[in-house]
Parts: sequence; C-alpha cells; structure tokens
Amino acid sequence: MVTLSHSSPLAVSPERKSSGQRLYDKAKRLIPGGTQLLSKRPESFLPEQWPVYYAQAKGIDVIDLDGNVYKDMSLMGVGACVLGYADPEVDGAVKAAVDNGVMCTLNAPEEVELAELLCELHPWAQMVRYAKTGGEAMAIAVRIARAHTAREKVAFCGYHGWSDWYLAANLGEDDALDGHLLPGLEPAGVPRGLRGTALPFHYNRIDQLRKIVDEHRDDVAAIVMEPQRGQSPDPGFLENVRDLARQTGAVLIFDEITTGFRMTTGGIHLLLGVAPDIAVFAKGMANGYPMAAVLGISTVMESAQRTFISSTNWTERIGPVAALATIRKHRREHVASHLIMIGNMVKMGWQKAAEHVGLEIYLDGLPSLAHFGFHHSDQNNLTTLFSQLMLEKGFLACDQFKPSYAHEIDDIAEYLEAVSDAFLTIAEAVAWGDVERRLKGPPAQKGFYRLT
Ligand SMILES: Cc1ncc(COP(=O)(O)O)c(C=O)c1O
Repeated sequence: MVTLSHSSPLAVSPERKSSGQRLYDKAKRLIPGGTQLLSKRPESFLPEQWPVYYAQAKGIDVIDLDGNVYKDMSLMGVGACVLGYADPEVDGAVKAAVDNGVMCTLNAPEEVELAELLCELHPWAQMVRYAKTGGEAMAIAVRIARAHTAREKVAFCGYHGWSDWYLAANLGEDDALDGHLLPGLEPAGVPRGLRGTALPFHYNRIDQLRKIVDEHRDDVAAIVMEPQRGQSPDPGFLENVRDLARQTGAVLIFDEITTGFRMTTGGIHLLLGVAPDIAVFAKGMANGYPMAAVLGISTVMESAQRTFISSTNWTERIGPVAALATIRKHRREHVASHLIMIGNMVKMGWQKAAEHVGLEIYLDGLPSLAHFGFHHSDQNNLTTLFSQLMLEKGFLACDQFKPSYAHEIDDIAEYLEAVSDAFLTIAEAVAWGDVERRLKGPPAQKGFYRLT
C-alpha cells in the first residue's frame, strides 16, 4: 500500500495551511486515500503545499479555494484536457445536450454518430462499445478478447488501470511476494485464483513476448500494450507483435487511453502503421467529460454479445456529445500539431535552462507527454523543490508536462523564464548541499512505477 508519512519534521503547521490542504485533511478522514486517483494525490507533487482543490479551471488557468490563480504547466487534468479546461465549443455542445435531456428510456443517437466518426478515423475498425473510464474500458476489451478466444491469459506491457485482470500480475507466489512486479499497485482483494493470468513483458522485448506465447500458446487471449509511450518502437517490434498475435490467435489490444489524441486525431498507432484488433480510448477523447471507447474489428467485437457487458450510465448523452465536439475541433484545428510544437518547446527549454546552470537532467516521453528528471542522487527532493519554487511563481508544475491546445507560445515563454530561475536556485541548493533545508514541507511521494 502507498502510505503517507505525517510525521515529517518539515510538516507545515495547521495555521499556515491553505484552504485546500485543510480540506484535504478532512478528505483523508472521509475518503480512503483522500482522492479518487493516485496521480491526483497532492503528496505526489508537493506534500502539504499543493493547492489540492480547484474552484475554477479555464484554458490553462486554475483558481484554488483561496482565490490564487495558477497556470497549469503540469498534467492538465491528468492528460484529459487536450483542448484546455472548459473549452467553449465542447462545453457549448454539452450545455445544449443538457437542455435536451441527457438520460432517457431511449438511447442517445450521438452514440451512433460517434461510432461512425471513430471508425472513419481508424479505417481498420468497424465496431465500437462505450464506457466512462479508461480502466473500465480496458476491462471490457479484455473480457471481449477472452470471450472471443475462449482463453484466459493476457500478455501485457505498461499500465492499464485498476481492474482485477491487470492487478493479477502483482499476485506473487505468496503474500510476501505480492506487488513486486508493479510497485505501488497492491493486489489485495484480487482473487488469488487469478495468479498467473496476467503475464508481463517489457516494451521492445519481442523475445519476452515470444517466450510467453511459446509457453502459453493455446491460452493467450490477448496481447495488451500501449503502441508507444516513453521509448520509440525498435524497427519491426510492433510488426512482430502483430504477427505473433495473428499466429497465436490472440487479440491485439492497443491501449490508447493516454497516447490517443496527443500525436494525431485518434490513436498514435495510426502514425506507427500497425493496426490492432482493438484500440481503447478515454481521457483526451472528450476533453475531460467521462467517456471511453473500445474500438475494434467486427469479428472480435461481435464477441461482446457472447458475454454480458452492460451498464446504465454508459448510455448517458454527455460523454458522446463531448467526444464528438472534442474530436471535431481536434481535427479541424490540427490540435495534435499544436501539442507537439508546444511540448517540444518545453522540452528544449528544460534542457537549455538546465545546461545554463550546470544541472544535469534527462528528457523522455513523446513531445505531447513530456517528462524530465534530475540526474542526481537527491532526485526526489530536487523535483519537490522544483514544484515548490514554481508554485511560488504561480505555476502548477512538476517533472511532467502535458500540453493542451490552450497553451500559447507566450505562456511557454513565461513558464520557461520561471523554470530558469527555479533551476538556478536548485543548482545553488545542490552546490550548498541544502536542498532538503529549502523544502517547506515533506518531499514528494511517488505513487507507482509502470512496467515499460
Ligand atoms: C495507458 C493507460 N491505461 C489505462 C489507464 C486508466 O485509465 P483511467 O484512469 O481513466 O481509468 C491510464 C490512466 O492513466 C493509462 O495511462
């Protein structure tokens, strides 16, 4: 379990705490873990100082509960808001839908319109099912694959949500070994009977996938992976995965929950030239409104009828309406090109600012899912200090940046000026050996590690 330390000598005194931090103290008594998403826990950014809650979010501006205004140069709704917060076009479409009723005994016609649009963007696919969250949609995809193949095992690489099928990978030989594979994702509550059903391989390691397929040849229902995340695919890697899936009869599922709508209008696999049997979208497809889609070839998708996959709230209207408006604007305005341009500016800016003050950093991630890290033994304290310094200058910032269409070149210039100052202070702190002393609260606590 990810536990929080409340005993740090650096703890911020209650009277100095912001309204958000005080509300969060209450939340931790009322809501197990305090938030609904690990990546939104303030401890993973800046314990006891992060604003935690927002009153308003518009464009890239976020107003906290004390009326402070920040520019979001961090996660933009954990990657959901590709167009920016409260996009007027999407919100306008949603408001019109609300006026016409968003739930009914009959179905929302936008479901069909969206299915057509998604299949038009991904010409290899013919059928679509919907859900509201990424993890839920992945569970649907895996269920369809298992129903289709009448097999049980899933070979996977990367992170895919909170469901039993996935957390089963963290069931060790016994309790003591539980959780070793994906640190931070505890499998308590996942039936031990699922042990050995989720089989991990690393990205670009076709040998590992081949071994899984050889050992479990007649029982691999699905191969599940993000087509690309941090690393680029080695030449032939994705094609070999595709071939292996075909040879063994496993369903190839591309998880595009985070990569979708970042590098192009649709899945990144469109750029990589390899088509899966199923692709799963959520997050960016509806600019923050709850919506997810499982898109696939009809032979596989028809197997959804051989099992039971059904939920009342999957039929509401806001999600499909928001997705249609988001995708249409995304395509019309060439949003992906903007995200790539802005992301590259930030990556180059991080590098330049670091070089200028003699800090060693590394960069990774796609331009539209950018990340940097400090090459330093005290990396976590340095990153915490970075968030602290940036917050003082009016930016929500961390070691990741997910650009949106609402980020403008002037915002980036302003942000990079603040980054230069922050990196200078960090370089001084490193030279003086007093990084920890400069922190006004405890260091950040990282949530979990992906298997990539
Ligand atoms: C690749 C990937 N798959 C699945 C998920 C889970 O999606 P959700 O948080 O919407 O359940 C995420 C979320 O970060 C993700 O990045």
